Amino acid sequence: MTGKSSTVLIVGAASDIGRALAREYAKAGASLILAARRVERLAPDAEDLKLRHGTTVRLAECDLLDLAGHERFLDTLGEPPDIALCVVGLLGQQQAAEADAAAADLIMRSNYNAPALLLNAVAARMERRGSGHIVGISSVAGDRGRASNYVYGSAKAGFTAFLSGLRNRLAGKGVAVLTVKPGFVDTRMTEGMALPPLLTAKPIEVAQAVRRAQERGRDVLYVRPIWRVIMLVIRLLPEGLFKRMRI
Ligand SMILES: NC(=O)c1ccc[n+]([C@@H]2O[C@H](COP(=O)([O-])OP(=O)(O)OC[C@H]3O[C@@H](n4cnc5c(N)ncnc54)[C@H](OP(=O)(O)O)[C@@H]3O)[C@@H](O)[C@H]2O)c1
Repeated sequence: MTGKSSTVLIVGAASDIGRALAREYAKAGASLILAARRVERLAPDAEDLKLRHGTTVRLAECDLLDLAGHERFLDTLGEPPDIALCVVGLLGQQQAAEADAAAADLIMRSNYNAPALLLNAVAARMERRGSGHIVGISSVAGDRGRASNYVYGSAKAGFTAFLSGLRNRLAGKGVAVLTVKPGFVDTRMTEGMALPPLLTAKPIEVAQAVRRAQERGRDVLYVRPIWRVIMLVIRLLPEGLFKRMRI
């Protein structure tokens, strides 16, 4: 359970989902460490959370693409957090990524290398302590590569597989790993897209579902359960048919 003494690290805290997670965990009485690039942007949010929920909120500067800086960043936090959530991601543009290796590389590193390696470093510290919760925000896009977003999807697939392996390795060692596949979420990332309301969650819905799943020690969360069925069907489609659909 998230008690008054739980410390929750949110990396990518300036994202819409990160902000909703901060509100959700602050409401539950946790102490927060909000990490982001240009973290000073979050000062008003931090003040608001402190006033509303009487919780402590610390801000920490963190660019996850600076892989060599991960250990240093974690050192500055002191004791490993009880719960570490990584929300960092980059949708990017599929067509640009097809034409430009640098654009593809940025999407791949932002969704796979950077979050996976940060959580790996967090996991080592939690493993030494013998307790902790790790939460990675991946995507249903990683369940099968599709023509419309396979660069992003393949990086999320890597992240999903990484979290699965990490969970497997840490089973029985006091450290739980939750993989989150939100489905469509109404955020800055999806601004301007025509998303079907029945399949689209609000950030606060994601945050509530994540906290529930994390507290219950679940392994994989599809925020709206219908996505589990949709992705099962998509995964089962024969390759020949899937090619003709070009989704
Ligand atoms: N929205 C959806 O439909 C949807 C669906 C499935 C999964 N997701 C995943 O949910 C997560 C949150 O996305 P969102 O929808 O809330 O969109 P968002 O607001 O664009 O969040 C992405 C966040 O990642 C941060 N970030 C990117 N690269 C970073 C880096 N190198 N170092 C530190 N932070 C970095 C961004 O920081 P800046 O603020 O500095 O740019 C931003 O805050 C992402 O992992 C996304 O892939 C979203």
